[in-house]
Parts: sequence; structure tokens; C-alpha cells
Amino acid sequence: MKILFYSPLNEAAVWLHDLARALPDADLREWQPGDHAPADFAIVWRPPREMLASRDGLRAIFNLGAGVDAIVALEREQPGTLPPNVPLIRLEDTGMGAQMAEYATHAVLRYLRRFDEYEMQQRERRWKVIDPHPRATFTVGVLGLGVLGTQVAQTLASFGLPVRGYSRSAKQIDGVTTFAGQAQFDAFVDGAKVLVNLLPHTPDTEGVLNARTFAKLARGAYLINVARGAHLVEADLLAALASGQLAAATLDVFHQEPLPADHPFWHTPRITITPHASALTLRDESIAQVASKVRALMRGEPVSGIVQVERGY
Ligand code: NAP
Ligand code: GLV
Repeated sequence: MKILFYSPLNEAAVWLHDLARALPDADLREWQPGDHAPADFAIVWRPPREMLASRDGLRAIFNLGAGVDAIVALEREQPGTLPPNVPLIRLEDTGMGAQMAEYATHAVLRYLRRFDEYEMQQRERRWKVIDPHPRATFTVGVLGLGVLGTQVAQTLASFGLPVRGYSRSAKQIDGVTTFAGQAQFDAFVDGAKVLVNLLPHTPDTEGVLNARTFAKLARGAYLINVARGAHLVEADLLAALASGQLAAATLDVFHQEPLPADHPFWHTPRITITPHASALTLRDESIAQVASKVRALMRGEPVSGIVQVERGY
């Protein structure tokens, strides 16, 4: 079986080495421009169009991330980028759920217990107790109840916080009040104190973190965006922080990454920035999942994680 690998992150050697250990029978190679030789599988992160177009012989394409927006956008912009009838398979969890739960919990508890304000006080050498927010009204809304959002919502609920979750189709999750579909969006956000975004980036979800959404949250609410920068209308965030409608935001993802040095977010005091690091692709876990799905497909068995390209996730 022939496997093509591509990542723009200059990490092919180590991935190919570890993939060879997991799939000893595979003939693995890094894709280079001009390589049109046949392959059975492609394992990719942000591949160029030329790599996949017309590769009808592929049995599957594995995306080395949970989000498939970059590869799906290529297909939308230039139909035919993805060979028809070849399943596109994304990573499911592979250790990202625990990382997301840690990141979101840290951010939510930091705001609940006002550590962000103590950090500011310390810089001014001020000694003053600030009342914690009342837990009973510190309602957290989790946008997206998929593989990652569900784990985040369950973890936050385990702290006794009121947790709401929003998805496209209806869900039942212990300890979480769930809302589904556009018709229930306003009820989902209404009066929430924290919004954690774990939606995929699709035409339906682009710009969902906007002035209208912020206005429906409780006054002085908090935003945690760990999904994609395109979900956020940046000017609306700056305006909501300036007016006090939002108290603070923790942002892991941005329209442009790396965030440009002159971007106003860098020097907005109540914005906390991390460099798209909330849930990293873990190589061992990802290779174990991809290898097990390759073996299943070779045996003719079904696998999970197949993306509905027309839906965008
Ligand atoms: P997932 O399992 O596909 O879950 C997506 C969730 O969003 C599902 O609950 C889905 O609803 C819901 N959804 C999609 N479109 C919607 C819409 N229009 N209205 C309401 N709900 C909608 O994805 P995941 O594995 O949890 O990952 C979520 C996203 O996290 C990824 O797409 C990626 O962008 C981001 N991510 C970021 C990082 C990072 O390091 N910052 C790391 C990993 C992932 P249904 O359940 O009804 O389908
Ligand atoms: C990272 O952002 C991913 O989608 O896995």
C-alpha cells in the first residue's frame, strides 16, 4: 500500500518515521510538487491543490487536524481539489478533547475567581480582595457539542457551573442544558456569562461571534474562542470590550496567524492571547488512529470521522 504525506510545517521526516513503525507494510513518501505517481492513501495538513486534484485512485484522505475548513475551502474555491468519492477523514479527539477541556476550564475558572484581575492588581502592587462571581449565575454556553465541545461542557459541568450547549442537531448530555438549531440560538446565548466557541468554521458559522451575539450575553460577559478566527468579528469584540458589554476575552485563534505584530489585540489589556495552542495534534495518538483506520479500510470495514464536505465539517 502506498501512502503520501504532506505538511507545510517541515515535520515530514518525524511523521514518516513514526508512520513507518505503525504501518510497517506501507510504502511511505513525502509528496513533492510534480509527484503524480499513484497512491492509496494521503495523510495531509493544509495540502496544496495540486497534491490531491485528480487522484481518483485514493482510498481515503486523512486530515491531520479536527478542523477541515482549510481543505474544504480549497474545494469550494476550486471545485475538483478533492477527488470525488474519496472519503476525507478528520482526527477525532486523539488527545485534543482533554487539552481543550484543560484550556477552557483554566480560562473559565480564571474569570470566575477573578485571577485575571488579581494579575492586574499585582502589576500595580495592590492588595484588595475582589468578590468571586456567584457560581449559580456564572452560566457557560458552549457553542458546538461535537467531539471536543461535549468534553468541554461535561468538564465545566463537573465544577457545578450552569452549562448550556448548542449544536445543529439535538443532544442530551448529563448536566448540560442543550439547544439545537438557529431557532434556539437566542435562547442559548440569552444572559450567558461565558461563551466558549467550539464550532467548526463553515459558511453557516462564520462571524457568529458578533455584536448581536455579544449584546444577548450578560453584561460583563467573557469570550473564549478556541475554534477558528473566522468565527469572530474582531471590530465587534473591541467595541464590546470598550463598552463593558464584554469584560474580557481569551483567544487562541485569529483571522491571520501568526497574529501580526501591529494587531490591536496584542495591546488590548483584557484580551489574553495564545498561539493556536489550545489543542495540539499529538503525533503518537494521531498516528495510532490513522493507522487503525487505514487497516480497517484495507479490510473493507467502515470507519468514523468521515467529513460531509458539502456541509463543511
Ligand atoms: P465536531 O465533532 O465536528 O463538532 C462540531 C459541533 O458543531 C457539532 O456539535 C455540530 O453539530 C456543531 N455545529 C456545526 N455547525 C453548526 C451550526 N451551523 N449550528 C450549530 N451547531 C453547529 O468538531 P470537533 O472535533 O469538536 O472540533 C470543533 C472545532 O474545533 C474544529 O472544527 C476546529 O475548528 C476547532 N479546533 C481548534 C483547535 C485549536 O487548537 N484551537 C484544535 C482542534 C479543533 P451536530 O453535532 O449537530 O453536527
Ligand atoms: C486544529 O486547529 C485542528 O483543527 O485540529
